[in-house]
Amino acid sequence: MPYITIIVHMDRELNPFKPGSGLRPPVLEGRGEQVEAFDLLVARSKRRIYDRGLILSGLRGVGKTTLLSSLADHADRHGWLTIEIEARPNADGAAAMRRKLGQQLDLGLRRYSRKHRVQRAFDPILEIVRGFSLAVGLGPATVNVSSGQPAASGDIDLDVEELVEAIAEELKPRGSAFGLFIDEMQDLDGDLLAALLAVQHRASQREWPFFVIGAGLPNLPATLADCRSYAERQFLYSTIGPLGRDAAADALRQPVRKHGGDFTDDALTLLVTASGGYPYFLQEFGKAIWNLAPETPFQLEDAELAVEVGREHLDEGFFPSRWDRATDRERRYLTAIADTGEETPRSGKVAALMGVTVSGVSDVRDSAIRKGLVWAPEHGRIAFTVPGMADFIRRRPAS
Ligand SMILES: Nc1ncnc2c1ncn2[C@@H]1O[C@H](COP(=O)(O)OP(=O)(O)OP(=O)(O)O)[C@@H](O)[C@H]1O
Ligand SMILES: [Mg+2]
Repeated sequence: MPYITIIVHMDRELNPFKPGSGLRPPVLEGRGEQVEAFDLLVARSKRRIYDRGLILSGLRGVGKTTLLSSLADHADRHGWLTIEIEARPNADGAAAMRRKLGQQLDLGLRRYSRKHRVQRAFDPILEIVRGFSLAVGLGPATVNVSSGQPAASGDIDLDVEELVEAIAEELKPRGSAFGLFIDEMQDLDGDLLAALLAVQHRASQREWPFFVIGAGLPNLPATLADCRSYAERQFLYSTIGPLGRDAAADALRQPVRKHGGDFTDDALTLLVTASGGYPYFLQEFGKAIWNLAPETPFQLEDAELAVEVGREHLDEGFFPSRWDRATDRERRYLTAIADTGEETPRSGKVAALMGVTVSGVSDVRDSAIRKGLVWAPEHGRIAFTVPGMADFIRRRPAS
């Protein structure tokens, strides 16, 4: 019998790869540990055994948002009340954030009560939420004038606690729980963060089914510890890193195989190596090779081209979306970090490259940290939050 080669062309319309912020990947690879820990938390909550909340931290584009929302979906499927919010950095973000929390709670509770047909039991809680929404962001002097509503005190600590207690009391007998999923948690305003940590603490003392599940940059655990010393014992902390080689290979190969295609081994190896296992880069390279390869299995030459095309896309989207956010001075600071050629240079070395003292750069360092461009992996050292940022800065034309 003659040997027949089946050539499969990949249809661009069916391209499953999704480079982008918070976009669900075709397969969620390499997060078994976190998914299992969370599944156990949910399973135990049904038996009214309450464990610690979960904090996921890692660099930009590593897959925190995606993981967080898939955990929220899991909790939702298992009958939890789930609320998802994303924190924002600036000061007017604080009031907006609290309003958003009020809105999301209102929406989430109504959705939950309809789904589980418990409207009557939830009406009093919705009243508390409305009181909270009116009072938040307006300061302690707020007078709640509406009649019949439980007065929200305007004190964020008390109000959050009152709310969580009321919700927990309804959910506990049902074997359900309240999960508050907070993305970019390092940007939460200090008062709200302190209030949430306090109420999570109270919840574990009183066995309320309330869990904060947070995601954020690598400085998040330190931010929590600075806010409340007991935060260190309050959560299970998990670092979300780049995928290992096998998981990275599966993240590329599985979606392609699902459509009848494949990679040659050397093509796959090249893409895995070039991505460094970073999920965002894997999606970008996967998308590129799918679109450009004339046929499958994808060959080494296709992979080489895909890395070039993928990097171009990254240079037009992923990297500039951070770089463009920096002021001129912050850009000089970022450039100096890149110029050290080190992953985690000492602040002194960066300052020296800029021709100033360490204290001369402390304000620009702080503002770059607040913007989530860099973080301090240890005292006196600084690092990018964006993988590959140093190379991007070095290869961009000097402006
Ligand atoms: N486990 C995974 N396997 C494969 N691809 C993934 C995985 N997790 C995330 N991705 C993909 O990586 C990209 C970045 O994911 P995501 O936005 O969740 O990252 P992030 O850590 O929240 O980034 P940022 O810090 O910028 O918010 C998306 O395109 C997503 O589809
Ligand atoms: Mg994210």
